[in-house]
Amino acid sequence: MSYFLHTSRLGFRHWTEADLPLVVALWGDPDVMRHMGGPMDDAAAAARLRLEISRQRAFGVQYWPIFLSITGEHVGCSGLRPFHEEPEVLEVGVHIRPQFWGGRYGEEAVRAVIGYAFGTLSTRALVAGHGPENDASKALLGRLGFQFSHREPWGAHDIPHPYYRLTRPALT
Ligand SMILES: CC(C)(COP(=O)(O)OP(=O)(O)OC[C@H]1O[C@@H](n2cnc3c(N)ncnc32)[C@H](O)[C@@H]1OP(=O)(O)O)[C@@H](O)C(=O)NCCC(=O)NCCS
Repeated sequence: MSYFLHTSRLGFRHWTEADLPLVVALWGDPDVMRHMGGPMDDAAAAARLRLEISRQRAFGVQYWPIFLSITGEHVGCSGLRPFHEEPEVLEVGVHIRPQFWGGRYGEEAVRAVIGYAFGTLSTRALVAGHGPENDASKALLGRLGFQFSHREPWGAHDIPHPYYRLTRPALT
């Protein structure tokens, strides 16, 4: 596989249309999606895959698929997307498959994405949000130095989600 970004254990590549089985397994998993509106059916996962592919074309970012470097196993996804059309501000996200929970893979992936956003792209600030009861995500954002900024309605039911921000170090 051709990875464009590496960590000590993970490789990042771009989604392709052939990845439908991977996204069905990831976004169709009720545990992965517990705090993000519940599992997607196959059609919704396929639509999200098309959206991620289109974002890579339009903006040069997506929630990239990540793999164990040694075995090639699919670990999940982590990456970036535009945030409210704010210039040079991107939202960061991470979805790890349950068999890899507890290994700090999410943290390792997001650290690489932060480095890519601030080092390779001209990103000024990153934002991230999580479901109100997503304690693992809250703890992760805390470890990464994100600061609480605001709450905003999220999803079909407009549930208020806390949002956090991390500013590019050289600009603080
Ligand atoms: C949130 C997430 C990325 C955390 O990844 P991480 O920071 O690398 O964390 P780890 O998997 O190493 O786990 C850290 C701790 O949280 C616990 N934990 C991890 N994921 C958990 C989850 N989904 N639910 C409950 N506990 C969880 C681990 O057991 C571990 O406990 P420990 O500190 O006592 O060892 C990962 O759980 C995930 O992808 N969840 C599903 C998708 C999701 O909610 N993404 C965030 C959207 S905002």
